Amino acid sequence: MTTAGLVGLGLSLPPDIVSNERLIRENGLDSSDDWIRTRTGISARRMADECTSTGDLGAAAGAAALASARFATGGDVRPDMVILATTTPDHRCPSTAPHIAQRLGLKDVAAVDVSAACSGFVYALSLAHALVVAGAYRHVLVIAAETYTTTLIDPHDRDTAILFGDGAGAAVVAPTVHGEPGALESVRLGSDGTGLKVLHVPVGGSRSPFRMGQGPAEELYVRMNGRALYTNAVRRMTATARDALAGAGWSVDDVDVFIGHQANQRILDSVAEHLGLPPDRQQGNLRDLGNTAAASIPLAIADAAVRGAARPGDRTLLAAFGAGYTWGSATLRF
Ligand code: ACO
Repeated sequence: MTTAGLVGLGLSLPPDIVSNERLIRENGLDSSDDWIRTRTGISARRMADECTSTGDLGAAAGAAALASARFATGGDVRPDMVILATTTPDHRCPSTAPHIAQRLGLKDVAAVDVSAACSGFVYALSLAHALVVAGAYRHVLVIAAETYTTTLIDPHDRDTAILFGDGAGAAVVAPTVHGEPGALESVRLGSDGTGLKVLHVPVGGSRSPFRMGQGPAEELYVRMNGRALYTNAVRRMTATARDALAGAGWSVDDVDVFIGHQANQRILDSVAEHLGLPPDRQQGNLRDLGNTAAASIPLAIADAAVRGAARPGDRTLLAAFGAGYTWGSATLRF
């Protein structure tokens, strides 16, 4: 039976590796490497410089995904749509996807940004899957790219500065047969707008427009209630993962690989424990990359593929949770 699935993967990371110690030293943070590693599982992150945009990282990851898809399929891959998942676009207007498409030489294709914070990749994947299964598009290039550290994060706010990193991951979604490597078997999405202020940027949108000289500059950065996010992330990721498993007709025991949104190792361990998943099923790269928001899941998938940590055909469970609140889960064959 026909579904849609991943036929190519790509990633792009800024070269600068910033350890916890360096982050603390350079920004004068009242924190420690031990606190960050123990509470979050993060040791380092990649950070973009001021000249590197989300579009730059996204275009590089997209090009790599196209090259990998063309290699895997013998060359017959011509994306007719680009979906970019991001909360850190190159400009507040216009969207970034058309510029990425143009840079990739994809002339006149459909191109749109999707904003669902850390759930962005699962949302974009779900949209791509639906469009391909409906026959509206044949090859959709899904990119998730973020530059939180240069745009939304106050480098002097220890609550948030320790968590985030930059990067981009991408996948080509194309018609696939259920059960074949890459095949998407089920997707579930959800949201709860009562979580709006648990992680938000107070100023700069139409609710509270930016006015030169008015209000503290900190209002242009992310404000976060970490404890509330933590609790809701565990609850929602667990529930949506159960829904996605049921949608695929899989039991927890069927899952070979679990890749959750790379926000905090304690969140991931707690979700796995609630689901009854043994620790060895988890794959991720939180320790080295931190929280790369929408990009975290495709980066972790690409990383698992490169390391050979998952084999083609492995039953894979994805689960994400982000600001909004938004959440989503998918089951697919690796
Ligand atoms: N360094 C050192 N000490 C700190 C730091 C820091 N960076 N931040 C807080 N502390 C202190 C607090 O002041 C507090 O001190 P006290 O006990 O003297 O009052 C103590 O450490 C414990 O603070 P908590 O906030 O209770 O720490 P917690 O165990 O909840 O961990 C954290 C905080 C890491 C932010 C956690 O709540 C978390 O990861 N939440 C999820 C946040 C997240 O993932 N956000 C990303 C965006 S949304 C998403 O991706 C799902």
